[in-house]
Amino acid sequence: MKIGIIGTGNIGTNLARLFVKAGHEVILSWSRSPQKLIELSIELGNHQKAKAASVLEAVQDVDISILSVRFAIMDEVKAQMGNLEGKIIVDTNNPYDVKLQKGFSAAAEVKRRFPGIKLVKAFNTLYYALLLSESFANPPVIIPVSSDEEDAKDIVVKLIRDIGFVPFDIGGLENVLLQEPGGPFFNKLLTADQAKELSNGL
Ligand SMILES: NC(=O)c1ccc[n+]([C@@H]2O[C@H](COP(=O)([O-])OP(=O)(O)OC[C@H]3O[C@@H](n4cnc5c(N)ncnc54)[C@H](OP(=O)(O)O)[C@@H]3O)[C@@H](O)[C@H]2O)c1
Repeated sequence: MKIGIIGTGNIGTNLARLFVKAGHEVILSWSRSPQKLIELSIELGNHQKAKAASVLEAVQDVDISILSVRFAIMDEVKAQMGNLEGKIIVDTNNPYDVKLQKGFSAAAEVKRRFPGIKLVKAFNTLYYALLLSESFANPPVIIPVSSDEEDAKDIVVKLIRDIGFVPFDIGGLENVLLQEPGGPFFNKLLTADQAKELSNGL
């Protein structure tokens, strides 16, 4: 699969490493330092599997994009993304630098700002360094995933498996607060059995 990374920061960089290791191709975009993107593309195999490119390319020339920037710069990023209709965008973002109405999720705020996208919430619950920590591979821990679009969610579920984690379906976006800050699945290292138990108790 060809995966656009929009925001090659802590999360974006580690996801890019995992996707390439799993045999996928990544397009790396958005950094204040273009040199950083080039260095990461070289680390990941330079042009065979990873390429530094524009935000436009990381949205328009891929199967799926990971949006992993801060809310403060989302509108600036959006201006470079081109037509978003039907694009599958994986939202990793937590609402630390935006004021949301009470009960409003970060995912709903992303959907409001990026109309027309198929939004999948994933990769927002674990500290970025844990994504590369092999000690969480045995037994593998879950990565919660929510979306209103089953076709888009299925793609992300497969990606989560490809990188060695266990996808855990939280449901549609009406349930997404369960995996956002303050929710029971946020910032927890859970095996699939522990997650099921937690889910049954809700
Ligand atoms: N860090 C975590 O452990 C973690 C875990 C789960 C979810 N999240 C969420 O995932 C999202 C990304 O987190 P992150 O830790 O990966 O973020 P980050 O490393 O700070 O930055 C992500 C991207 O945003 C760019 N950026 C940051 N500040 C900027 C600024 N002032 N102007 C322009 N570009 C800027 C970075 O570019 P540069 O290359 O120029 O820095 C990078 O491309 C956030 O919404 C966060 O809440 C984070």
